[in-house]
Amino acid sequence: MYANDSKAPPRPRLTVPALRKMKADGQRIVSITAYDAGFARSVDEAGIDLVLVGDSLGMVCQGHDSTLPVTVDDIVYHVGCVARGLSSVFLVADLPFQADATLDRALDASTRCLQAGAAMVKLEGAGHKLDVIRFLAEREIPVCGHLGLTPQSVLRLGGYKVQGREASAAKKLLADARAVADAVADLLVLECVPSALAAEITAAIAIPTIGIGAGPSCDGQILVLHDLLGMNSGHRRPRFVKDFLAQGGSVLGAFQAYAAAVRSGAFPGPEHGY
Ligand code: KIV
Repeated sequence: MYANDSKAPPRPRLTVPALRKMKADGQRIVSITAYDAGFARSVDEAGIDLVLVGDSLGMVCQGHDSTLPVTVDDIVYHVGCVARGLSSVFLVADLPFQADATLDRALDASTRCLQAGAAMVKLEGAGHKLDVIRFLAEREIPVCGHLGLTPQSVLRLGGYKVQGREASAAKKLLADARAVADAVADLLVLECVPSALAAEITAAIAIPTIGIGAGPSCDGQILVLHDLLGMNSGHRRPRFVKDFLAQGGSVLGAFQAYAAAVRSGAFPGPEHGY
């Protein structure tokens, strides 16, 4: 294995204002999770816009049943690995379970993530998390919210289920999304929500939405790397997952096929939504 001597000029690195402009221009934001430098290099080469070092690493890398055992040290380690493989992709780090339970903990964990190479942190929920988002944003830390199915709430939710199906739950999700945007988050992940509700939220807020199991109307899409490559991660495959390795023929080809399908609007199809 030798150092890359490619002479291809690097793409300019995406920024927070550039992500917002993509929403305004109707340009879809192609996103994926990654956990190491090797996959990160292929993600970069494929022209994907955004990488999340998700706490999903607890399930797909560490073999746990949930994301709850993941620590800040784990995330910081994987952010460093991924950052070294990227040149132009926007890098987001997940704050793991309870790392955002208090303002001080959130500031400490976020600072470590940014110092390891992330450009934004993601945190789940609304409620008291709105104070955390505001606190971080006031300290120049870009924040991505995460609503709908929030895997860190699995014990209270009683499983990984679609959220916002009933009218009252849908109304609350829309209000939460507005509150997250008003707390000055810069991005919002919507996970496992009905496509019509995700479309309504996307139209209602100025910040870009990134969907996973949230239909085609979000401003961008994200998939977990292992799901996109059709790997058996030891868990039930949700219906929003598509195996792009079968179509792309190689890891790089799979990433390129995924990016093209998101940008053209071919993915997600109606069969991937709720
Ligand atoms: O942890 C993760 O990978 C995530 C994505 C599924 C959005 O939160």
